[in-house]
Amino acid sequence: MADERTAHWRRIDDRHHLHPFTTFRELSAKGSRVIVRGEGCYVFDSEGNRLFDGMSGLWCVNVGYGRERLAKAAFEQMTRLPYYNTFFQTTTPPVAELAARLAAILPAGLGRVIFGNSGSDANDTAIKSVWYYWNLEGRPQKKNIIARSLGYHGVGVGSASLTGMRFMHEPFDLPLARFHHIGNPYAFAVGEGLDEETFGSTAARWLEDKILELGADTVAAFFAEPIQGAGGVIIPPASYWPEIQRICRKYDVLLVVDEVICGFGRTGNWWGATTFAIEPDLLVMAKGLSSGYLPISAVALGARVGDAIWAGEKEFAHGLTYAGHPVAAAVALENIAIMEEEGLETRASGPIGRHFASRLAQLEEHPLVGEVRTRGLLACIELVEDKAARKPYPADRKVGLTCRDISIDNGLIMRAIRDGMVLAPPLIVTEAEVDEIVEKVSRTLDDTARALGR
Ligand SMILES: Cc1ncc(COP(=O)(O)O)c(C=O)c1O
Repeated sequence: MADERTAHWRRIDDRHHLHPFTTFRELSAKGSRVIVRGEGCYVFDSEGNRLFDGMSGLWCVNVGYGRERLAKAAFEQMTRLPYYNTFFQTTTPPVAELAARLAAILPAGLGRVIFGNSGSDANDTAIKSVWYYWNLEGRPQKKNIIARSLGYHGVGVGSASLTGMRFMHEPFDLPLARFHHIGNPYAFAVGEGLDEETFGSTAARWLEDKILELGADTVAAFFAEPIQGAGGVIIPPASYWPEIQRICRKYDVLLVVDEVICGFGRTGNWWGATTFAIEPDLLVMAKGLSSGYLPISAVALGARVGDAIWAGEKEFAHGLTYAGHPVAAAVALENIAIMEEEGLETRASGPIGRHFASRLAQLEEHPLVGEVRTRGLLACIELVEDKAARKPYPADRKVGLTCRDISIDNGLIMRAIRDGMVLAPPLIVTEAEVDEIVEKVSRTLDDTARALGR
């Protein structure tokens, strides 16, 4: 039985709150988990359970919970100036400083930023920037946008159109015209029979096929995450990105990288673009920009698009009330300072990342596990019915969700994406905590196998 307060929160939440991506009747029968506090890599629920947060919230609390410096930065800025807008030829000090700070840590050439509040609105801003750019260039026919199946870019009308998930399209009559999707470099699912490198360049050429099908003169941009996150931590073979880059250049298609998950140290560098040696024209960021402490996002523009937009004669008729919110900007600045002081931007590519990869790799021995993929502090453990044949369970058995629930009972928050169990712990995770994750995953896999009657 839940205690009285928990029961109260569950009751009012059930009655009045429609959650994201939720089957409401199902949640109503179970009741929400009420998270009340966080410290380091752990969160605590209202019933006193201490859970290791293997997902950093929603891939965002990169510096961990309980950072007083971030709270102080917010308090100080809020006391001095809680809000002012960046319309009408004004700015505020934290916003100007954050723009310059980002320009200093962004890949070379990405020197201007447009601020927003979420990954979704940032992707919509990127889409509009791309269309605006081709209009400025006098090539208005260049408007088609290509993205990938299982790509996740958000829920706005534009960003959901970029997203390559049918269950997010059909109920809303999306995608809009002009949005097209190609396959992804998901070697585990579709790369059978090809070695990694051959599969990587084959998957990249699906972009070329689509450009040729649509006509290069009509294609504005290709949008992609360096590693597809919410699609199931799909890590491309080394041959993939160089080939994508070559194709974008050949056909004069702008390359937009969505770094909402990969940015801010997740793959072992500030940017996934650095990890994969990508030279993007635009770069989208959110989540780790403030470690999730406040909502803030940004689109960074390279010289080609950024300078053209800057030099446009008419006003750039786009912007949000909270674009460049001074409190969120002050927190983002402090977050970047913490990351630099503690070396968090590269920590995932050092000993801790290697420990994470090698300890998780041991789980490949488990009869339920078809593959373990890791890069930096991102991982996916694929659960399968038949290990040798890499055969997944039928979707209606909901093996991933079963495993996720067992994992939480065992004190570890993992996310299930289909039957892939995903981990993205805070970048401050220690070796002992990685061992704790692996011990909990291992127990969870045994319990899941038992629940499946294996
Ligand atoms: C790669 C990527 N882009 C965009 C988004 C959307 O961000 P938001 O939920 O802040 O709108 C997400 C969210 O998970 C994401 O993973």
